[in-house]
Amino acid sequence: MFKGFLLGIIVTIGTLIVIGYVSLQFGLIPANADAQPTALEQWAANTSLTATLQREAPRGPSPVQLTDQTLIDGIHLYAQHCAICHGTAQGDASASPIARGEYPAPPQLATDGVEDDPPSYTFWKLKHGIRWTAMPSWKGTLSIRQMWVLALFLKHMNKLPPAAEKAWQQVKNGTEPSNPANSGTPPQQANTPPSSGYATSGSE
Ligand code: HEC
Repeated sequence: MFKGFLLGIIVTIGTLIVIGYVSLQFGLIPANADAQPTALEQWAANTSLTATLQREAPRGPSPVQLTDQTLIDGIHLYAQHCAICHGTAQGDASASPIARGEYPAPPQLATDGVEDDPPSYTFWKLKHGIRWTAMPSWKGTLSIRQMWVLALFLKHMNKLPPAAEKAWQQVKNGTEPSNPANSGTPPQQANTPPSSGYATSGSE
């Protein structure tokens, strides 16, 4: 009786492994990014992320104090590193070509923000990134302080004091026409022929 039960479990697990392997080998598991995540993928990803945050996010308040200057520093960091994927104060309308092509799509934080999350959760996401998405880990690029500064800005981005609000409204995500790289006319030095030194360096 028990032997039969055990055999049943082993056969079931073996069959599942074979089905999984065959599905991968025959390309039956979608590998494309031009799609919406399925409900199952979203559920699995959210459940795993929420459980990880509850276990690993730092306890207690932010070690960085909230001031107008902190918020402005956060906005500058955001403009430099984040707007390309998470947009500007214009929200969804400001989504860059990179943001539009990602799977899953990065939230445009002005319209779909994280003001409800504790800053420690946002800090964890910045430090470690989010697996199976385009959200990078920033721990090799930003300091601990900079990551808290960003987390505080994102927590308060819908109720900024006037000076910070002004800085936020001026953030561009690199795709606006005011950026010379996108104005249609290539910047001057792009038309300059390579110097002779450059042209001959190919023979090395
Ligand atoms: C290359 C694109 C990319 C860049 C650059 C990027 N992110 Fe993300 N980020 C993502 C994606 C994609 C997600 C969505 C992950 C998911 O679906 O769980 C995300 C998720 C997040 C979240 C969680 C949003 C939520 O609703 O829970 C926060 C907060 C965040 N990013 C902040 C930042 C900050 C701050 C920066 C800059 C330091 C940054 N990201 C840079 C792609 C990016």
